[in-house]
Amino acid sequence: MRLAWTSYPVPRFQGAIRAPGDKSCSHRALMFAGLADGTSEISGLLEGEDVINTAKAMAALGASVEQTGPGKWTVKGVGKAGLSSPAQDIDFGNSGTGSRLMMGLMAGYPITARLVGDASLSKRPMNRVIKPLEQMGARFEHDGRGMLPITLHGSDALTPIDFEPEQASAQVKSCVLLAGLNARGTTSVTESRPTRDHTEKMLRGFGVKISTRPAGGVRQCVSIEGGQTLQPVDTSIPGDPSSAAFLIAGALISPSGGVVVEGVMSNETRDGFFQAAAMMGAGLGAEEMGDAAGERLVDLQAATASLRGRSIPETLVASMIDEFPILSVIAAFAEGETVVSGAEELRVKESDRIAATVAMLRVNGVEVEERADGFVVQGCGGPPPGGGLVETHHDHRIAMSALVMGTAAQKPVSIDDPGMIATSYPDFMAHMAELGADIREG
Ligand code: S3P
Repeated sequence: MRLAWTSYPVPRFQGAIRAPGDKSCSHRALMFAGLADGTSEISGLLEGEDVINTAKAMAALGASVEQTGPGKWTVKGVGKAGLSSPAQDIDFGNSGTGSRLMMGLMAGYPITARLVGDASLSKRPMNRVIKPLEQMGARFEHDGRGMLPITLHGSDALTPIDFEPEQASAQVKSCVLLAGLNARGTTSVTESRPTRDHTEKMLRGFGVKISTRPAGGVRQCVSIEGGQTLQPVDTSIPGDPSSAAFLIAGALISPSGGVVVEGVMSNETRDGFFQAAAMMGAGLGAEEMGDAAGERLVDLQAATASLRGRSIPETLVASMIDEFPILSVIAAFAEGETVVSGAEELRVKESDRIAATVAMLRVNGVEVEERADGFVVQGCGGPPPGGGLVETHHDHRIAMSALVMGTAAQKPVSIDDPGMIATSYPDFMAHMAELGADIREG
């Protein structure tokens, strides 16, 4: 039986923490270095379980992937030889990003691979990537529901497509573009709402020509020419704004909060949570600290704030898609109502994040309404009651949100299992303790 972990209210939440490497960029750096024609050096890699699974996947497909120090990795890419069929199943664990991007990458080579994942990943929809890849000429075997385990048969004669994803999803966009890297001609993805642009930016860093142009209103079209060779790089991974959001939220809700998160990537496709928090009354500071892998870095500062509920503009949803559980926590401390809408994609994340977020707040005495595409939180205008045991549903972001809530609620907040926090933020418990949190087993 797993033992619960509990976060007790603390009087202060203060200090400075270096942000862990960004998860999205870490996955991509390993994948692209693994394809490149030569040896890349990567530093600041996030060594979370999801990313390690991508490292193992690239090794299973023929790249040489070696850790040379903490966060430091040397990757010798397969180059012109291309990817080869793995000897065994490739296990993506909990990672939607790893599995979906790798499906695109593998689709352009004449290989066969069987992909598996954990219980949560095996319930997530893969048809969103299977369909465009089938249109391009890859073949798939699965149980008919489009979920893992899936066997992929790639091809070195993929047909390029012009694709418009039904969802605003960087994973779908990236999957199709990565298949396009090895297709015969130009592949385009037109997005109705821009999503995180790390694939585009990072591929450029590896010497790939990829263009982004406006396609009317906020729509944009990204195009890639097939048959390009990636050049190796020496790069460092910027800090993860999604992980930083938990520490920033902890400062905002603390009776005496003052936190600096150093080296956070500042990218407008990722900063929706910080914009929403500012709209709710948070005074956030950002000091420019140079750049990494073509991304601007900032030291982010936050302190105790008197927050007010807000309707979160739907235009921010894609840029804060992973931050809704932690947004709901600051909304619980705010005065008045916070409304989230247009966020139905949350239903198919590591858990049904609308249901899990609503349950997390309710069990801690917060009034919240569940909607098909979001939720409405009635803020407590101060510390919510707390005292609940939160079911994490194997979702790292629900677990971390609940533990942050416990630092400043009236009573402690518990979670059923902290294990999966290591998928995205292995140092979370240590960083929280450094800032003054009191989180213990039991
Ligand atoms: C990611 C894209 C997002 C996000 C995920 C990481 C990526 O997923 O939720 O944590 O690295 O491309 P969707 O593209 O499915 O929205």
